[in-house]
Amino acid sequence: MTDTLTPVLSDIWDADRSWTLATYREHGGYRALARARELAPADLVELVKASGLRGRGGAGFPTGLKWSFLPPPDGGPRYLVVNADESEPGTCKDVPVMLANPHVLIEGVAITSAAIGCEHAFIYLRGEVVHVYRRLLAAVREAEEAGLLQGLRITVHAGAGAYICGEETALLDSLEGRRGQPRLKPPFPAVAGLYARPTVVNNVESIASVPGIVLGGAEWFTGLGTPKSAGHGLFSLSGHVRRPGQYEAPLGITLRELLELAGGIREGHRLKFWTPGGSSTPILTDAHLDIPLDYEGVAGAGSMLGTRALQIFDETVSVVRAVSRWIDFYKHESCGKCTPCREGTYWLQQVMHRLEEGRGTPEDIRTLEDVAGNILGRSFCALGDAAATPVQSGLEHFREEFEAGCHTPARDLFPYEASALATAGTASARGGREVTA
Ligand SMILES: Cc1cc2nc3c(=O)[nH]c(=O)nc-3n(C[C@H](O)[C@H](O)[C@H](O)COP(=O)(O)O)c2cc1C
Ligand code: SF4
Repeated sequence: MTDTLTPVLSDIWDADRSWTLATYREHGGYRALARARELAPADLVELVKASGLRGRGGAGFPTGLKWSFLPPPDGGPRYLVVNADESEPGTCKDVPVMLANPHVLIEGVAITSAAIGCEHAFIYLRGEVVHVYRRLLAAVREAEEAGLLQGLRITVHAGAGAYICGEETALLDSLEGRRGQPRLKPPFPAVAGLYARPTVVNNVESIASVPGIVLGGAEWFTGLGTPKSAGHGLFSLSGHVRRPGQYEAPLGITLRELLELAGGIREGHRLKFWTPGGSSTPILTDAHLDIPLDYEGVAGAGSMLGTRALQIFDETVSVVRAVSRWIDFYKHESCGKCTPCREGTYWLQQVMHRLEEGRGTPEDIRTLEDVAGNILGRSFCALGDAAATPVQSGLEHFREEFEAGCHTPARDLFPYEASALATAGTASARGGREVTA
């Protein structure tokens, strides 16, 4: 097994007051910005292209290539918008980055702005995380007062908390003050984004990775990871593992290796199913412990790397119940703009609830397949696909549990208490705080 963790973004998380400018600078912070300012914008874009950095927000689009799509400067404004909406179930990497070390993101924003000719950058933050909002505001102020931004304006905007506002064009509509719904593409944001001006939209982790690339160089970055999936990334392990949390490792690490680092599945239990990149990525099973967690490896196993949100479920968990909770989420978050997703998630929810309660029929399972198949690839944005995939992959790997939903409630087959990590009056199974409610 590898013991190679690659703490870059998480390097100073355990330092005293890691979120302050003083601590960040003690650990070499803002040296990359100084170096970047010695380079021509086009060279910065080339450097990030050569590093092979791919967007960390889910789709894995090459970051430098995206920057290069901006049309030549015409004297008007060009924007960088950092996507900090982080709402996908299981995904929990950007919030820790911004909380523990907001300056690595701000340094990345300043470097990226220099590369693309942006004088006003935005960080669009999921609104519920008020503590992160305050921390970002304080960090921007610190950087400004220290003269590090050299005229670059950074606006931190707190959204109202909608999953759809993480979709880049819905995010831009929301930032402009409209209801957050996806825009028809093309035109892509690079051509007509915020206020119809050329705009780069990138994930927090993508932008926070840029200072490391400027300091370490493209070769250092490509030396980590696998040939088509370069670099390091945060792997967020949650659920039935002994030590859940963030594990920063080269792309291509396997779940088996990560589980060893995380102390394994909780005592006395075994892995049943997991998501490689949040609830929108098709579920995998214990047959997939050794697939490389890079874009190609996970796609080869029929899923997606997504946001590396590894939700781990042991044998006590009902797949029907897990999928049903995810469908509740997607139904609630569907923005209603297109029919397949708006109506389809409603139908999926009705059927999943019946199956969970043991009141389903064989016709229900056919309806599930039919509805999911009609959402996938026919929706206006990827939220619809996200709702269809857990249903389809659940049926693919655990069809018998859906069939059992035609006669037996999930709570009888898989009692809640068996899955709980903490119960009233007892200490948590992983040694956590006692729950006395
Ligand atoms: C419904 C939906 C929600 C999304 N939520 C996020 C999000 O919270 N954060 C994010 O970075 N990307 C999210 N994305 C992907 C963005 O549209 C976009 O691809 C990403 O911000 C690009 O950044 P990257 O190239 O650095 O990955 C979402 C996409 C969809 C369809
Ligand atoms: S797929 Fe869903 S979230 Fe996306 S536009 Fe259609 S209704 Fe809205």
